[in-house]
Amino acid sequence: MTLKDKYEGIIKRYRGFLPEIDDKYIITINEGNTPLIKARNLSKLINTDIEIYFKYEGLNPTGSFKDRGMTMAVSKAVSEGTKAVICASTGNTSASASAYAARAGIKSFVLIPEGKIATGKLSQALIHGATVIQIKGNFDEALVITKEIAKEYDVTLVNSVNPFRLEGQKTASFEIADELGFAPDYHILPVGNAGNITAYWKGYKEYYDAGKIKSLPKMLGFQAEGAAPIVLNRIIEKPHTVATAIRIGNPASWQKAVAARDESGGLIESVSDEEILKAYFMLASNEGVFCEPASAITLAGLIKLSGRGFFEKGSVCVLTLTGHGLKDPENAIKVSKEPLAAPCDKNSVLKIMGLNK
Ligand code: F0G
Repeated sequence: MTLKDKYEGIIKRYRGFLPEIDDKYIITINEGNTPLIKARNLSKLINTDIEIYFKYEGLNPTGSFKDRGMTMAVSKAVSEGTKAVICASTGNTSASASAYAARAGIKSFVLIPEGKIATGKLSQALIHGATVIQIKGNFDEALVITKEIAKEYDVTLVNSVNPFRLEGQKTASFEIADELGFAPDYHILPVGNAGNITAYWKGYKEYYDAGKIKSLPKMLGFQAEGAAPIVLNRIIEKPHTVATAIRIGNPASWQKAVAARDESGGLIESVSDEEILKAYFMLASNEGVFCEPASAITLAGLIKLSGRGFFEKGSVCVLTLTGHGLKDPENAIKVSKEPLAAPCDKNSVLKIMGLNK
């Protein structure tokens, strides 16, 4: 490989499918190009005969899929002379926005629900130099305030209501189709603010229209039971779930997600926190893939559907693992066995290992 072929992020790779941005304005941290990992042990464990792949978006530069959208939104903002960006966030958007703003040399303001974002995400926003404002409210309330400020002042909103965010995020569908050589039969995603499922569906449709794939997947979305406005078809005033990333009661892209579900012949359903945590542990302990609880909802959803014979034999099913597990170490420690303690000598260690003669 020569320097000329070096990978430089999604904008350059998928230029023909994205709104135009002059090279000099591109703000990239080489996001995208994430691995599509075939499950090795899970199909057997959950007794299903489908092919399962994980699109591991936790390997983006800030550890979540948000970077695909943020490179577009921040590059566009920079090209228009913006000096500051703002977002409301359950954590990942704030981590990504603050990193891309830092790289662009502009300011970032992030509004987060107090006490309800994973530690890793908070540390990211702080170290990238964002002005972090914790509000005594939830994500939905923070988004209302953020939208108003962006309307009245010279700061660019980089939540997924910014159309450039979805443009960037749709490139994950392109990567999957490019790598498989076809579109999967099913694509499973967590649904929070509902931007990502909207973006993936847009991506698949554009690839289909361009003749790059010959079929379209059915889009299967999952929400947590305590934060399932689309499933229940009503706003949830006080959403709650262990998967704080998707603790959202009034998704901004609600209707677009419903359209993705219906046009694709898919579904949006919910699973319990217990099912989420079980899948979270199962994935890490059987596949070596560590994602955050909100991402593991995809596996919880697959297990639920597979249990009622939903999938045809041999179907190809892609699960997007939206964020890295290291963002939320508290939950990982909570669902795992405690570390063992031993005095500092070899025999004690051997005894614990069960190797003492
Ligand atoms: N998974 C993770 C890890 C997320 O952080 C989010 C959203 C989602 C799934 C849901 O995606 O909102 O497009 O339906 N996080 C946003 C944030 C809300 O502020 O970081 P969506």
